[in-house]
Amino acid sequence: MSGLAGPMIYEGLYHLFYQYNPKGAVWASDIVWAHSTSKDLINWIPREPVLYPSQHYDINGCWSGSATILPGGKPAVLYTGINAENQQVQNIAFPKNLSDPYLEEWVKSPLNPVIDPNGSNMTDASSFDSPTIDYYTNDHQDKNIAFPMNNLPEPNLIEMVQSTSDPDMIDASNFRDPSTGWLGPDGRWRVIIGSKRGKRGIAILYWSKDFIHWVKAKQPLHSAEDTGMWECPDFFPVSTIAPVGLNTSVDGPNVKHVLKVSLFDNSKEYYTTGTYDYAKDVYVPNKGSIDDIFGLRFDYGKFYASKTFFDSAKNRRVLWGWINESSSADDDIKKGWSGIQAAPRAIWLDKSGKHLVQWPITELETLRTGHVDMPSKLLDGGSTVEVLGLTASQADVEMSFKVTNLEKAEKFDPSWTNAEDLCARKVATVKGEIGPFGIMALASKGLEEYTAIFFRIFKANNNKYVVLMCSDQSRSSLDDSTDKANYGVFLDEKLSLRTLIDHSIVESFGGEGKGCITARVYPTMAIGDGAHLHVFNNAAEAVRISSFSGWSMNKAQIN
Ligand code: FRU
Repeated sequence: MSGLAGPMIYEGLYHLFYQYNPKGAVWASDIVWAHSTSKDLINWIPREPVLYPSQHYDINGCWSGSATILPGGKPAVLYTGINAENQQVQNIAFPKNLSDPYLEEWVKSPLNPVIDPNGSNMTDASSFDSPTIDYYTNDHQDKNIAFPMNNLPEPNLIEMVQSTSDPDMIDASNFRDPSTGWLGPDGRWRVIIGSKRGKRGIAILYWSKDFIHWVKAKQPLHSAEDTGMWECPDFFPVSTIAPVGLNTSVDGPNVKHVLKVSLFDNSKEYYTTGTYDYAKDVYVPNKGSIDDIFGLRFDYGKFYASKTFFDSAKNRRVLWGWINESSSADDDIKKGWSGIQAAPRAIWLDKSGKHLVQWPITELETLRTGHVDMPSKLLDGGSTVEVLGLTASQADVEMSFKVTNLEKAEKFDPSWTNAEDLCARKVATVKGEIGPFGIMALASKGLEEYTAIFFRIFKANNNKYVVLMCSDQSRSSLDDSTDKANYGVFLDEKLSLRTLIDHSIVESFGGEGKGCITARVYPTMAIGDGAHLHVFNNAAEAVRISSFSGWSMNKAQIN
């Protein structure tokens, strides 16, 4: 499995479409859209793949895309096809039979490709009268110009002017992953498509009245210098007043928007929260949110090509992320598969309005069994306590900590701007004043192997405290061929941790879901019954575990 391509709910059943290579364990360009369905987002039934390369417009691959529920409840998927000339074009497909609850067969539109980067079948809003702006400069947001939507040309009235020096030319090798569409009050659909121009990443915006005929907007929804190719862009509204999800087309006074992109160049995802103006089709990120170097991430570990969808049955927005392997392609081929999906997470805007909060969907709790509680307990500096009574290789643990002697915190050096680097230097064995304290998951009996998730607390110059959360994979496996990079994120003072442990996956939610880190690890000894779980405190100062609950987890039905 590679990235995601369109999660959705239709008539109460969840569908997941994903990138899958039927011919081998690792990615290949002629990838297909595989399909699974679920009643609860936890237990899944594999179905036949729905889109295979078959036509001139996708003969070399059916790449990522998104599902959109059209008025009347009819689903459509937009996906990137790699055409016979190896260009990236956008295609559409519809379910063959809407009364089949599993939507097992999909039909590609005879009008495909519906978006061709620079092709003659395309309409182009730049070719009708409007002021010229250069949206590839940093300040383009300020210069955005409202398009009179009712002046949009009819698709067949536009004459395309093409030239290689045209600043509007699209790089056909970097033009992919159409987003879920959103419908404006003006009756126009919008989608964005990931692209780049030079080193500037772009979310190119398209408009349509009927979801079939698309017109390129004069300016992209957003772009940013030096970010490289933007893959899998996702754009959705969030409520500023309640921790609920919103339909992708919703707008209003209590709504902000989120733009997420997956950066091909560093395999990381970033998002901003900001303001979207439907009339102008402008998205302006909040100050201090992303444009200060794309600061916010859904997940600070291994998590890519993610997608959200609005779950209309439960009024929530659900985030799906793809976790690739940390092992070599040779190992993946030996194993026979690669890539998994993270546990689905509900996602909403924090009360501060500045960042998102994530939490594993409540359905995950149906897998909980064999509960263990620990009474409030003081963990002395230098101590390690094993948590007994859980299947440590497959568990869900939740805990919170209390620190009483904060004045002992080490000084925070303002040059420490990168949490990941700090975690790489200050691994779990590096003793501190307050922290590292947390858990050692997937630990072998003699602690030859473990993955440590922990906090450290520092005192900053402004007398505020900085909490560093780390996921330390440096001792996760005795197999040295695997990627054991450490991950980290700065949090505020909420010292809570929830970790989902599942054999090779360790998904941690710190600060009540503010900072999430997913790690992929391959222990050689800490497997099955050989896996143990410990709480630890490798600091000078004691810390109190104020609450601890753990559960063994049943196995979900998966593909
Ligand atoms: C994301 C991605 C997408 C592309 C797909 C190809 O990982 O590279 O940009 O559409 O995977 O499988």
